[in-house]
Amino acid sequence: MTGSGLVVRDLSVGYGPVRALRRVSLEVPEGAVVTVLGGNGAGKTTLLRAISRTLSFHGGTVTGGDVQLAGRRLDRLPPDRVVAAGVSQVPEGRRVFARMTVADNLRAGALGGNRRNRGESLARVHGLFPVLAERAHQRAGLLSGGEQQMLAVARALMAGPRVLLLDEPSLGLAPLMAQRIADTIREINAQGTSVLLIEQNAALALRLATHAYVLEVGEVTLSGPAADLAASDEVRRRYLGVVDEDAAADAEQATGPTLARWEG
Ligand SMILES: Nc1ncnc2c1ncn2[C@@H]1O[C@H](COP(=O)(O)OP(=O)(O)O)[C@@H](O)[C@H]1O
Ligand SMILES: [Mg+2]
Repeated sequence: MTGSGLVVRDLSVGYGPVRALRRVSLEVPEGAVVTVLGGNGAGKTTLLRAISRTLSFHGGTVTGGDVQLAGRRLDRLPPDRVVAAGVSQVPEGRRVFARMTVADNLRAGALGGNRRNRGESLARVHGLFPVLAERAHQRAGLLSGGEQQMLAVARALMAGPRVLLLDEPSLGLAPLMAQRIADTIREINAQGTSVLLIEQNAALALRLATHAYVLEVGEVTLSGPAADLAASDEVRRRYLGVVDEDAAADAEQATGPTLARWEG
């Protein structure tokens, strides 16, 4: 693998004796949106923690493989140096500093980043999320769930990342708000930031992404252009909640019409 993007090669991770990732390889080419699909416990969050080097805070260790950005090894750096190198993570559960103001949350996000561009970054996030400018002096904990997710994304952008790691940004949000977050991810990408997107909402993720990977019990089992994965029976059945019509007809014959066809 080559290139100017983010490259994960043969990455293995354990939490003590628990092996959470086995030789995972993936690439986020510069300028791309790449998504990783997978059920609960598949290892998606672990993958992002390994890239951002925050794994040790959770008792995990990388046991093999490496991570590079534009040919530079990231997997020996402390977390703040990974941010400085151009990779910012939005952790799952939109963890903002609830007692701090919106403005102070954004200031904290800029700490690891490029000092020179701080004003530019603030202008950028206010452009993406005007509500954060309006609420600058409000405590972050008083924002709605969707606004807190916007703040979490904005905070990560303050460091001026080349690659943004997003861990289930739509989780727990109403469909309209999830769609707004999706639109914003598209806009962030259009502004030149690559995105590695983890999502339970596979339909949304496959609409946004150019490439997709499926992670199952710590291993990549499928990968390819997002459109190909969206069309694959396996992905449709397991992640898009589309019932295979033949199987549904068989089931209906076997058990009667109560097992009706459903679509996710
Ligand atoms: N801090 C931790 N300590 C021990 N095991 C963990 C920890 N975090 C995650 N795991 C385990 O690692 C596996 C992958 O978890 P995770 O990366 O959170 O999956 P996902 O984000 O896909 O739901 C699971 O088996 C989970 O139980
Ligand atoms: Mg997770």
